[in-house]
Amino acid sequence: MFRTVLTDRLQSAFTSAGILLPEGFVPTVGIASDTRFGDYQSNAAMTLAKQLKTNPRALAQQIVDKLEVSDLCEKVSIDGPGFLNFTLGGKALAQHLSLILKDDQAGVPKVSAPKRIVVDFSAPNIAKPMHVGHIRSTFIGDCLARVARLVGHTVITDNHIGDWGTQFGMILHGWKTILDHAALEKDPIQELVRVYKAINAETKTDPAVLDTCRQELVKLQQGNANNLEIWKQCVALSLDQLQTIYGKLDVHFDHYLGESYYNDKLAPLVESLQSSGIAELSEGAICVFFREVPELAEKPCLIRKSDGGFLYATTDLATIDYRIQEWQADEIWYVVGAPQELHFRQLFQVSKKRGQTVAMQHVAFGSILGQDGKMFKTRSGESVGLIEVLDEACERARAVVEEREGLTNDEKDQIATIIGIGAVKYAELSQHRMTDYKFSWDKMLALQGNTAPYLINAYVRTRSIFRKLEDNVELTQELVISEPAERALAMKLAQFAEASHDVLADHRPNLLASYLYELADTYHSFYEACPVLRAEGAVRNTRLTLCQTTSKVLKTGLGLLGIRTTERM
Ligand code: ARG
Repeated sequence: MFRTVLTDRLQSAFTSAGILLPEGFVPTVGIASDTRFGDYQSNAAMTLAKQLKTNPRALAQQIVDKLEVSDLCEKVSIDGPGFLNFTLGGKALAQHLSLILKDDQAGVPKVSAPKRIVVDFSAPNIAKPMHVGHIRSTFIGDCLARVARLVGHTVITDNHIGDWGTQFGMILHGWKTILDHAALEKDPIQELVRVYKAINAETKTDPAVLDTCRQELVKLQQGNANNLEIWKQCVALSLDQLQTIYGKLDVHFDHYLGESYYNDKLAPLVESLQSSGIAELSEGAICVFFREVPELAEKPCLIRKSDGGFLYATTDLATIDYRIQEWQADEIWYVVGAPQELHFRQLFQVSKKRGQTVAMQHVAFGSILGQDGKMFKTRSGESVGLIEVLDEACERARAVVEEREGLTNDEKDQIATIIGIGAVKYAELSQHRMTDYKFSWDKMLALQGNTAPYLINAYVRTRSIFRKLEDNVELTQELVISEPAERALAMKLAQFAEASHDVLADHRPNLLASYLYELADTYHSFYEACPVLRAEGAVRNTRLTLCQTTSKVLKTGLGLLGIRTTERM
């Protein structure tokens, strides 16, 4: 990755020039925002000169004198008040293109200090529908896991399903009184949700029903065999159906350790927290107080209710222990909506009090809105189910490919699935995760603009060139990058490495999405400016190589977003 190599060289130049760096000052090189002066840029000389109160341009010159980059750069210049600008040479670029083509990682280097990272995402609740809000967690989490794996971390994905909790009181009562067995067989999640909603409504008007539900829940928690049996069936049926959805989405988990998995670990955990003085009794409940943290001083974390029941937070604390002990987790990323911010802040504080060193991150996200700018709802006012969204996406995408010629119906179906699901994923991943974005079918399925169909189509165009090619054309390594459009494309391709690494800095898939969109644009400009099949000799070889590399980077990059590609559309 050029950014890292240039940063290393720059730091060596500081050393060779005998410049002592103040504490905390690290010279770095970044991708140039304005490419008129170079491909990479550093303001290290300017920043340091300010601190040392010397002339920035003179300092920059001192560094450039010691800079050894002739193997990479055709030019290094000092511009403006003291910016260092690096222009890469054609040979270095060509070498990087060859690397992308032959490397399994498409030229994305691995990190020097790989970690063991648990990614906690999706985590729907049993008997409650998986709604579009779960889209965000599922897609962001899956993308982050894919990128982290590519850059060399050991990634453990865990679906912390909500399979234990107060909703089961209602489900149990409903199961025994109003369950429609035929409906359950046909669509278990839908029937469980219906039962849950019906009983939930009854509890609002009839205190006796509420009481029955409570008793059912207590029986379940005390291990009543019949209730446990029903609970097990609910979980198994829901998981089955969830797995079908994940299959469609091409999302996979290493583990499905739901909340219930930690049941028997909660009582001993609370006891140990109490005996070590971290938790204390307060009005009959057991809490952890954070008197030393001003924002949390009034917000203790409840870990056992006065009736003896445990809470969401208790389970999460037990889960952290498990992930440290069993998986040797160095980091845990929780991909969960922004409304749970307080929960995670408390969780991290308790963990800190316990002396745990695992690095935890709440990867929060905003909401999905309807066209009216309010929460995304169906016409009847219910939150929109994920399955319906996916089905509709594929149907609409089918209409888009319908007119295409030379494709069988089966092929059209397959392509529609790839485009439909890709479109929904891309609409999510191309947004900054904290923004509330509007869900728009027309926008996400458009063939132009920052959409999955546009990117998949760009990939298809790179592939179609090779179908028009006479047989057995062998690409050679002899590349001559001379036209500006060729150079711009080669440069963009090389920066796939930086784009991939940048995703993890702040857990932001949208940076990769933007990169791929720019790449597709750069490719189209190249394609318009530079004839490929009509060119000859080394020029043709170079252009074909650029097409081939674009293909590979688009496919790999979309793959990191969890989006599949098709050879035709
Ligand atoms: N089931 C929860 C919900 O739907 C999300 C769980 C997130 N993960 C966790 N370890 N708390 O709100």
